[in-house]
Amino acid sequence: MTLDQLLAQAIRQRLPRLEARMLLACATGRSPEWLVAHGPDEAQEDAVERFSLLAERRAAGEPMAYLAGIREFFSRPFRVTPAVLVPRPETELLVEVALALVRQVPAPRLLDLGTGSGVLAVTLALERPDAEVTATDVSSEALAVAGANAASLGAERVRLRLGDWWQAVDGGDNGFHLVVSNPPYIAAHDLHLAEGDLRFEPPGALQAGPRGDEALRQIIAGAPARLRPDGWLAVEHGHEQGGGCREMMDQHGLIGIATHRDLEHRERVTVGRTSKRPRQRERTENINVSSANLPSTAGLGILIVNP
Ligand SMILES: C[S@@+](CC[C@H](N)C(=O)[O-])C[C@H]1O[C@@H](n2cnc3c(N)ncnc32)[C@H](O)[C@@H]1O
Repeated sequence: MTLDQLLAQAIRQRLPRLEARMLLACATGRSPEWLVAHGPDEAQEDAVERFSLLAERRAAGEPMAYLAGIREFFSRPFRVTPAVLVPRPETELLVEVALALVRQVPAPRLLDLGTGSGVLAVTLALERPDAEVTATDVSSEALAVAGANAASLGAERVRLRLGDWWQAVDGGDNGFHLVVSNPPYIAAHDLHLAEGDLRFEPPGALQAGPRGDEALRQIIAGAPARLRPDGWLAVEHGHEQGGGCREMMDQHGLIGIATHRDLEHRERVTVGRTSKRPRQRERTENINVSSANLPSTAGLGILIVNP
């Protein structure tokens, strides 16, 4: 059977053409472009077997990113395995917001809590080569993937720490200019967990507890003690959790609280900062939307708390 015939067969079996081509590229170890030029070539028997297996797994719903072992994030290829969440395009908003928050800060100290594949920590390290970046996760398998991505993408200086949220950095690593986190935020009973890609992703990367906001709560509660004065916390959350995050940040004394919307206009990232002077609580205040705080993403919305 030729490579073209193999592709045609998979497409007849309802595999989308683009996915079929990507999986054939994985099975043969060739690029999709090479496959176009060599369609009439005879397929090797072991490649046929590998391709059939991949096509079967895809038909059963396994995410393409796990089958291909790769997912693009912020225009860079990140290795992904079933030990980590498949990076989502909406998480790029958190990167854009984070970069804008520390644009004026020289050599910022950055922390990514729950790094998974390392997309946030590695991207921030590459976009801000002067930054000192620490990445944590409670899963050693996830940290291994993050470490491999840091090495392959040239961000070896990212420091990896194993442990439960803040405990991973307790003991000397404090004083961050910016903490980012995309924690698990789906409620344990949420029916979406039984659908689509979520069925294949690590439960520990998706669910934090019965309410869904348990991890956000811990991260927000612990932030003021670990941030420098005038340091920022930026968290990604579910589109119905913006109000809860703003409230929790306010309760814990953060100021300048604001929520950014994603390109679908859903509340997605909430930020807050510590006071310029240590341990002094200020009223929640506006942030200047025309200042460097705002990322340049077209269509990005911002919600100001207590205008
Ligand atoms: C939603 S995933 C985000 C991964 C990655 N930052 C991203 O945006 O694609 C959440 C990550 O938090 C980690 N995590 C879950 N519970 C944790 C805990 N108690 N302490 C530290 N990390 C935790 C998970 O292992 C997972 O890698």
